[in-house]
Amino acid sequence: MEKCMLSCFILLLSLLFSHSIAKTHYHDFVVQKTPVKRLCKTHDIITVNGMFPGPTLEVNNGDTLVVNVKNQAEYNVTIHWHGVRQIRTGWADGPEFVTQCPIRPGGSYTYRFTIQGQEGTLWWHAHSSWLRATVYGAIVIHPREDSSYPFTKPEREAPILLGEWWDANPIDVVRQATKTGAAPNTSDAFTINGQPGDLYKCSGKDTTIIPVAPGETNLLRFINAALNNELFVSIAGHTMTVVGADASYTKPFTTSVLMLGPGQTTDVLVTADQPPPATTSVARILLPALQGVPSTEHHNHLDYTCSCSSKPGLSIPPSLPTLPAFNDTNTATKFTTSFRSPKKVDIPSPVDENLFFTVGLGLFNCPPGKTCGGPNNTRFGASVNNISFVLPSTFSILQAHHQGVPGVFSTDFPANPPVQFDYTGNVSRSLWQPDQSTKVYKLKFGSVVQLVLQGTSIFAAENHPIHIHGYDFYILAEGFGNFDASKDTNKFNLVDPPLRNTVAVPVNGWAVIRFVADNPGVWLMHCHLDVHITWGLAMAFLVEDGVGELEALEAPPEDLPLC
Ligand code: C2O
Repeated sequence: MEKCMLSCFILLLSLLFSHSIAKTHYHDFVVQKTPVKRLCKTHDIITVNGMFPGPTLEVNNGDTLVVNVKNQAEYNVTIHWHGVRQIRTGWADGPEFVTQCPIRPGGSYTYRFTIQGQEGTLWWHAHSSWLRATVYGAIVIHPREDSSYPFTKPEREAPILLGEWWDANPIDVVRQATKTGAAPNTSDAFTINGQPGDLYKCSGKDTTIIPVAPGETNLLRFINAALNNELFVSIAGHTMTVVGADASYTKPFTTSVLMLGPGQTTDVLVTADQPPPATTSVARILLPALQGVPSTEHHNHLDYTCSCSSKPGLSIPPSLPTLPAFNDTNTATKFTTSFRSPKKVDIPSPVDENLFFTVGLGLFNCPPGKTCGGPNNTRFGASVNNISFVLPSTFSILQAHHQGVPGVFSTDFPANPPVQFDYTGNVSRSLWQPDQSTKVYKLKFGSVVQLVLQGTSIFAAENHPIHIHGYDFYILAEGFGNFDASKDTNKFNLVDPPLRNTVAVPVNGWAVIRFVADNPGVWLMHCHLDVHITWGLAMAFLVEDGVGELEALEAPPEDLPLC
């Protein structure tokens, strides 16, 4: 009898806990014009709810988010939930003209989706023109309520959003560039949680201060929300233990410097082990940019003495970290190749789709009788397998697919480059001009996809942070030069490769990723440097429905914006 009572009690308890503890979070996002002062000047920027950066969404794994977006701004807008898998809910993914038409000024749309099996840090941002320069915020995903971190619970946690600030309207910046075909103006400052730190004009008083106490171990959630730059991050006098990236846990490793491509997130534990009083700096420096911008340091502070919620300004000067040079590829490579999954991975195989995509820049000839702002009277372009992606304008691709509307896109995106050449060598000028079109690559539900992303040296070799919507993928290997299947296949990590949603394809190099096409819908893949997506460095996968309701895309919401 006693035994029964005990086991009944345990049964009751487990019933209670297995019972859905997932919650639904409702949010209102009002997209609006907000005056914000930075670098001595006040600009009207576009924000969500008047906040810059926008509100942090905090959820537990398994929770549902319902976000009603009201557009009170003068621009079209959409919101993308970067890294959220959006299983069967492609209508909520957000990229304009890919999964929805934009929310027009005065319009609204409710995004509904559930976080499934992801823990750590993701973020949200506008996915229309360059609005994401100011319209972005963190998504913090805690473990399920009945579960915990796979590391000692940190004392405090803070999202740290790295961004870029233009002393101009970013939409005007990109419009101007698109008009002439020139490269857009580079930003005027880097920001941490919206603040330029103490090295720019008129910015010294408004640094971001993160209070810590001596001896504490804190969790910092870094997000690279910058538009066009990979960033190094160091904290003076401290090492960081990386525990997660892109909302997947990693095998912990210790480092003094992080490198984040735009779109990527990295969760680190930092112990405040310097003798108090100490303030330290979180700084960053910019990696090679096409425009040859000099490296810029920038400082915000971890403050050991400040246990306050208001910002008192620092009483002692912060110590400065040593940062790698902006073009220190070795440090970047050492860091990106340190990532491992925490446990042995069941690698998806055998491969059904063996894809090889070139990613890189190009130049379009200037239309006759016009003057163009690119090098030698050209327009800048960029492509995947020589196709420069063009967004449709009358239907989103997903809607056209769902309703069978012809003429919006074609399904003949090539599995291999149309011409094979020495991708990272001296590429003949005749191969610099891409074709412009809206092509998708069709995938059967459940197919195993292996994709070689091969950087090209056309015009300029650059690091390309390639992001796939609706998916996480394993990064099996990366390297320099041209991918050579006969020898590079041996380098694949088929034991514990990291799971990410954005891979920084090395400068003049390649990366190989693998995933299962288990999420039906239309999923954009693009370089997360906004300047490159503007030039067409994008394509989309169309993943067909599988068998039965649970393998099919849901029906579109009633308030889905139409074109
Ligand atoms: Cu964060 Cu399509 O991107």
